[in-house]
Amino acid sequence: MAIKGLIGVIGGSGFVGSELCAQLIASGYSVKLLTRNASKCRHLKVLPSLSIVQIKDYQANTLTTALKDCRALINLIGILNEKGNDGKEFHRIHVGITRAALNACENAKIPRLLQMSALNAHADAPSHYLRSKGKAENYLKTFSAPRVHYTIFQPSVIFGEGDSFLNRFADLLKTVPGVFPLACANARFAPVYVGDVAKKIVVSIDDKASYNQSYELCGPHIYSLKELVQYTANVCGYSRKVIGLPMFLSKLQASVFEYVPGKPFSKDNFNSLKLDSICDQCIPCTTSLSAIAPTYLANR
Ligand SMILES: NC(=O)c1ccc[n+]([C@@H]2O[C@H](COP(=O)([O-])OP(=O)(O)OC[C@H]3O[C@@H](n4cnc5c(N)ncnc54)[C@H](OP(=O)(O)O)[C@@H]3O)[C@@H](O)[C@H]2O)c1
Repeated sequence: MAIKGLIGVIGGSGFVGSELCAQLIASGYSVKLLTRNASKCRHLKVLPSLSIVQIKDYQANTLTTALKDCRALINLIGILNEKGNDGKEFHRIHVGITRAALNACENAKIPRLLQMSALNAHADAPSHYLRSKGKAENYLKTFSAPRVHYTIFQPSVIFGEGDSFLNRFADLLKTVPGVFPLACANARFAPVYVGDVAKKIVVSIDDKASYNQSYELCGPHIYSLKELVQYTANVCGYSRKVIGLPMFLSKLQASVFEYVPGKPFSKDNFNSLKLDSICDQCIPCTTSLSAIAPTYLANR
């Protein structure tokens, strides 16, 4: 297949990035994956036309130098929890790196910047995570024209092999016998398959209709968090009964888990879950959870 050009990817060493890099290469692009830690990308070395470049930081100068041959940049960098709880790390990573990415595109004359955001991202959203993603979007919308065309993707929770959502609940369910108490059990999601998300990003690169557009990405079905966790237990073969905690206990659980190493649940996560993660106007992503999740949950 003819090589369509070199695409720079940042934040691509993780779950979504691994699928995205594979799809970019299958579609005829070559990929330059920038990372802070090349050893985290060993699993991607098998992909032809993929080069891994270890960089010391995500400052604009570093990115400009590393990306100079690229014709588009895809920014997947994101964190779900920060070390403190004042929002500064969310801002530094989501807004700061977006600003650096846009500056690098301008300096290196890269005309396309594709940005991974999240459903409900908004400068006035209830959590630091969603607010910082929203502010990063606003930065692109305000400052990208005329030299760089952006496209923003706002997915609901993403599932697929290696996800940190169903797999995390599967791990927790394994350690809690009998009844599983669940915070924010009524929050609703439209889980979207990682393969569908990656496909939408890949086809947008050269699609002029996607220039300066934002796309919500949702799967075909809506579930409550309780339904998703009970489903995970059932597929894993764990005999568990998931019960929803009332709001005050959900908040208390978030306040306690905030201090557990690895922050399995935080006050910021609790605040994000105040909004249902479902689409108003979405690009239809058709792969259902039930078609995929059993393939990686059933034999854990
Ligand atoms: N997974 C979901 O359900 C979901 C839903 C909605 C939106 N999203 C968004 O989709 C994107 C990709 O998600 P993912 O699940 O693939 O995430 P992931 O596996 O955690 O990977 C995210 C990437 O962010 C970079 N990163 C992490 N911490 C960083 C830090 N402190 N400073 C700089 N870079 C850092 C890492 O790049 P290096 O280590 O290579 O430098 C990593 O590869 C994120 O922006 C996320 O917010 C995900």
